[in-house]
Amino acid sequence: MSDKEKLIIFDTTLRDGEQSPGASMTREEKVRIARALERLRVDVIEAGFPAASNGDFESVQAVARTVRESIVCGLARAREADIARAGEALRDAAAGRIHTFIATSPIHMKMKLQLEPDEVVEQAVRSVKQARQLTDDVEFSPEDAGRSEFDFLCRILEAVIDAGARTVNIPDTVGYNLPDQFGGLIRRLRENVPNADKAVWSVHCHNDLGVAVANSLSAVLNGARQVECTINGLGERAGNAALEELVMAVRTRQDVFPCKTDINAQEIVPTSRLVSNITGFAVQPNKAIVGANAFAHESGIHQDGVLKHRETYEIMRAEDVGWGANRMVLGKHSGRNAFRSRLQELGVAFDSEEQLNEAFVRFKDLADKKHEIFDEDLQALVSEATWSLENERVRLQSLRVCSETGERPEAELVLSVDGEERRAKAAGSGPVDAAFRAIDQILQSGTELLLYAVNNITSGTDSQGEVSVRVEKAGRVVNGQGSDTDIVIASAKAYLNALNKVMQGAERTHPQVDGV
Ligand code: KIV
Ligand code: ZN
Repeated sequence: MSDKEKLIIFDTTLRDGEQSPGASMTREEKVRIARALERLRVDVIEAGFPAASNGDFESVQAVARTVRESIVCGLARAREADIARAGEALRDAAAGRIHTFIATSPIHMKMKLQLEPDEVVEQAVRSVKQARQLTDDVEFSPEDAGRSEFDFLCRILEAVIDAGARTVNIPDTVGYNLPDQFGGLIRRLRENVPNADKAVWSVHCHNDLGVAVANSLSAVLNGARQVECTINGLGERAGNAALEELVMAVRTRQDVFPCKTDINAQEIVPTSRLVSNITGFAVQPNKAIVGANAFAHESGIHQDGVLKHRETYEIMRAEDVGWGANRMVLGKHSGRNAFRSRLQELGVAFDSEEQLNEAFVRFKDLADKKHEIFDEDLQALVSEATWSLENERVRLQSLRVCSETGERPEAELVLSVDGEERRAKAAGSGPVDAAFRAIDQILQSGTELLLYAVNNITSGTDSQGEVSVRVEKAGRVVNGQGSDTDIVIASAKAYLNALNKVMQGAERTHPQVDGV
């Protein structure tokens, strides 16, 4: 039996992560990521900001209705209406948490909130009490704590703990702190807030100076027992502390840390891939833990050392974080039951028999083209199948491209638009460009393409290409994904996926814009 304390992992990929410009996700996508986070065994999933928009509300509600093993959390400004909305969105959660916040730094109180410090304390206490009427599990954050006055922080934190906050979270909202300083802040707060032992101390670090993980770890060494983080370090501006780095640092350096997490590390790489695919944010190859090169030894001396004795150059094992976990699972002759049960093992559940049928048809099509079907192929296929039934107004029916040395490529395609067949033909600088131009001829969407990225899902030339596109229209940014063994078809699917989302609409506000 270990006598180590537990370090609570609070994942905010679906909330702060989604605040990265361009990382917006649909409700279905959020539910898929939430399921992956549950498999990863994160303790708390911050699913969104229910007061931001109806879409956000519905996403938090859908996650609350799906997830059973992790606590589902909704963010709320310290406002009556926000808290009521968060409570409503979490009503069906197996375990729900309301996370309320108000800014406490002099600059935020004066310039953003235009409130006196006394009024800020009063509002924070009122909000925590209101949230406690809705759930026992209430978290409070003094926004921009990293630049707040120490005495004022102590005062407001004591007051909210008295009012019923069970977790107090110290955000370095603008990523200004450095590791020793931030760890010291946590230690001093714990020593100076009289009722400090009545709450769990949490930290939430942004990566503007590249030290979000270091700051969080320093805080853990000084008594923080919850860390807020995101998969791949996604998040506002330079991002949040990366979950995979925090978890593996604590696990690898058990000689240093007095605590442990319950994370199922083998799910780290699959979850990282899912988030990268859905958001269109590629993971840099040299990113710790989840980058393609994180465990690749190139130099002869290193390779030789690893072959002789693994630990000469390796402090962690790739397979422990889920690398190499992809295995051939299904093929051309696999039946519906095998298909359904493998997807169940991957945590994918269908809302209807119709969705399962749609996915199975796509699986059979893929199996005709590709001999071995891996878990990653299944994930990509499910993305398309679950999205398409409910939301696709425009669908690709057929695409023919002509590409020849010395000739300008041409694409000819047929789309179904609200059930009506439409055709177009266009030339472009490459086959993908030609296909996009043909789509534009029909849809005249008026969007601007911000990102186009291709990835192979598995290895080998028969791998599916997975394409991510990001488009913008009138300040709204959405992502689209598509996969196919033919990358021109995958590209057209990704573009149409994004345009379908644009046609769906849905506006949202930002939690930190007007604070209160
Ligand atoms: O960065 C921040 O301050 C936040 C709070 C809402 C916790 O995201
Ligand atoms: Zn944040």
